[in-house]
Amino acid sequence: MASEKSKVLVIGGTGYIGKFIVEGSAKSGHQTFALVREASLSDSVKAKVVQNFKDLGLWGSSDPPTNTLPPPLATLAQCETRLTSPPRDKVTIYGDGNTKEVFLNKEEDIAAYTMRAIDDPRTLYIKPPKNIVSQNDIVALWESKIGKTLKRTYVSEEQLLKKIPESPHPLDILLALNHAKEDQTYFTIEPSFGVEASQLYPDIKYTSVDEYLSQFV
Ligand SMILES: NC(=O)c1ccc[n+]([C@@H]2O[C@H](COP(=O)([O-])OP(=O)(O)OC[C@H]3O[C@@H](n4cnc5c(N)ncnc54)[C@H](OP(=O)(O)O)[C@@H]3O)[C@@H](O)[C@H]2O)c1
Repeated sequence: MASEKSKVLVIGGTGYIGKFIVEGSAKSGHQTFALVREASLSDSVKAKVVQNFKDLGLWGSSDPPTNTLPPPLATLAQCETRLTSPPRDKVTIYGDGNTKEVFLNKEEDIAAYTMRAIDDPRTLYIKPPKNIVSQNDIVALWESKIGKTLKRTYVSEEQLLKKIPESPHPLDILLALNHAKEDQTYFTIEPSFGVEASQLYPDIKYTSVDEYLSQFV
């Protein structure tokens, strides 16, 4: 007999990633609650997210949440996204561009793995094989899609470290994320302790870097 799914309370459900977690939780059949601060209602973007929760039958407050969103539910159609098209003329490469990073491109994929982790006692490592790439790999892949070679500008580590504190928020965060010196794939997953999420849950069709870039061609 299938074990009962945990109830989920999302704190930060009105935030950027939180609204995807709320949707992913409810979609995967968890009884879902969202904590919503009163102040969010005066923010027009967040008020829209809260309105979506209301439309779906979910409502919470700074008081202990009492209402649930029963599955199945519709999607949060008006979620804001950060989709921006890659450059077509020139590109900035940080460092030598060879450091490998792990990418999870779509917020829905993050939500899907998060939900599986909730009732899984093991540690899930997210290292989807198709999404372990360097800046140079991504640029080469994009160039092959648009049939064009981009002009490269290289930014040294010294220049980057100077630029981060001088940049306005949230550009400073994005630049800091580019200061990845260590190969994020350097460690091995100890089988007695953890598992690689995309191998453990092959039914989650995560979006590859290749697929993600294709939408912009
Ligand atoms: N976005 C990313 O790409 C990313 C990547 C890696 C890790 N993360 C981590 O994921 C978390 C959320 O990121 P985000 O980008 O979604 O941030 P965000 O858009 O700023 O959202 C933060 C959320 O937390 C809520 N919150 C903040 N302080 C609170 C408090 N004291 N009590 C109750 N709720 C509070 C906010 O509520 P209000 O709406 O009421 O302000 C908001 O809903 C952060 O810890 C971040 O470091 C994010």
